[in-house]
Amino acid sequence: MAKRYKWGILAPGRIAAKFANALKVLDNAELYAVGSRDTGRAKKFAEEHGFKKYYGSYEELAGDPEVDVIYIASPHSEHYSQTLLCLRNKKAVLCEKAFSLNSRETDEMIAEARRRDVFLMEALWPPFQPFYIKAHEIIKSGILGKIVNMHAWFLFIPPFYPADRKFNISLGGGSLLDIGIYPVIDALTFLGIPDEVKASAFFGETGSEESINAILKYNSGNLATIYSSFLTNNGIGCDLLCEKGNLTVSRGRDMNQRVILELHGKDKETFTFTPPALGYHWEAEEVMNCLDRQLKESPVVPLSFSAGLMKTLDRIRESAGIVFPGRD
Ligand SMILES: NC(=O)c1ccc[n+]([C@@H]2O[C@H](COP(=O)([O-])OP(=O)(O)OC[C@H]3O[C@@H](n4cnc5c(N)ncnc54)[C@H](OP(=O)(O)O)[C@@H]3O)[C@@H](O)[C@H]2O)c1
Repeated sequence: MAKRYKWGILAPGRIAAKFANALKVLDNAELYAVGSRDTGRAKKFAEEHGFKKYYGSYEELAGDPEVDVIYIASPHSEHYSQTLLCLRNKKAVLCEKAFSLNSRETDEMIAEARRRDVFLMEALWPPFQPFYIKAHEIIKSGILGKIVNMHAWFLFIPPFYPADRKFNISLGGGSLLDIGIYPVIDALTFLGIPDEVKASAFFGETGSEESINAILKYNSGNLATIYSSFLTNNGIGCDLLCEKGNLTVSRGRDMNQRVILELHGKDKETFTFTPPALGYHWEAEEVMNCLDRQLKESPVVPLSFSAGLMKTLDRIRESAGIVFPGRD
């Protein structure tokens, strides 16, 4: 019989609620414990979602010997220290993006996981989604030829609260690590690590970056333009402009995922996907599959991908002048 894994949720905020709902569709996931900085919040979340235990500190959650795996859902700035806390307690970790605030921290998290021989994975949503898998299949099939140029974006207008993690620099605020990370993931997935990076950003009243454009150049002859912004709404998408046609990969505000294939001189073909549980359950499923196989990292989201992603984000930040005081 398949092992049932006892999940702990660290930091019961907005994404944690979606993730808890996703765990409910998996038979081998047990909603076991919640850890918050506040016992009342932990209790409320545990009751709402049916977790057995709750703790008023992250240390208590990490120290519970029954917990198999912890999902870290705090602001980016906290991921580094909390991942180390969990790994040092020998807990498998699924940590939200952005993995940390910089490469040095990401590299240390990876080194700690390897030193302790404990599973670690960044909670990257796209690699598990049907639209992404379909787009990959089409590109790999070669029917479109080489990708010449790529435009990828993530744009949405969140409510403005200066203390919110999206706008608060001390919590890693700014569009790049929150949503710009997705177009960067697209570039790394379809084109790899860029050879040159140039970026420019606008900063808002809290000093955090609110709009950024970056050009990634590849010596193999490709260019990628990535942009993210909290100042305009247009969902998430990526246009792959290729020698023999184009591919558009997008997720609209209706949450439907679409892949549009347009070969030169032919009619457009559209593939639409609407995954259950917003598609978050596939990340948890991957973690448990890896644990079943005693793997310490995921072949779908390898730690080398997370390391390359954070290095690229560092280069974009450096070019655009984005600094996280005390953390760079
Ligand atoms: N994969 C995705 O699709 C996706 C979507 C949204 C967000 N995310 C990622 O998930 C993470 C959390 O995002 P969110 O929108 O859920 O965040 P959030 O609601 O603002 O915060 C999550 C929780 O973090 C805890 N926390 C710990 N230290 C904190 C601090 N210094 N300041 C504020 N809160 C702190 C709080 O819970 P307690 O105090 O109760 O412990 C808070 O409720 C981010 O890294 C984000 O990038 C991923």
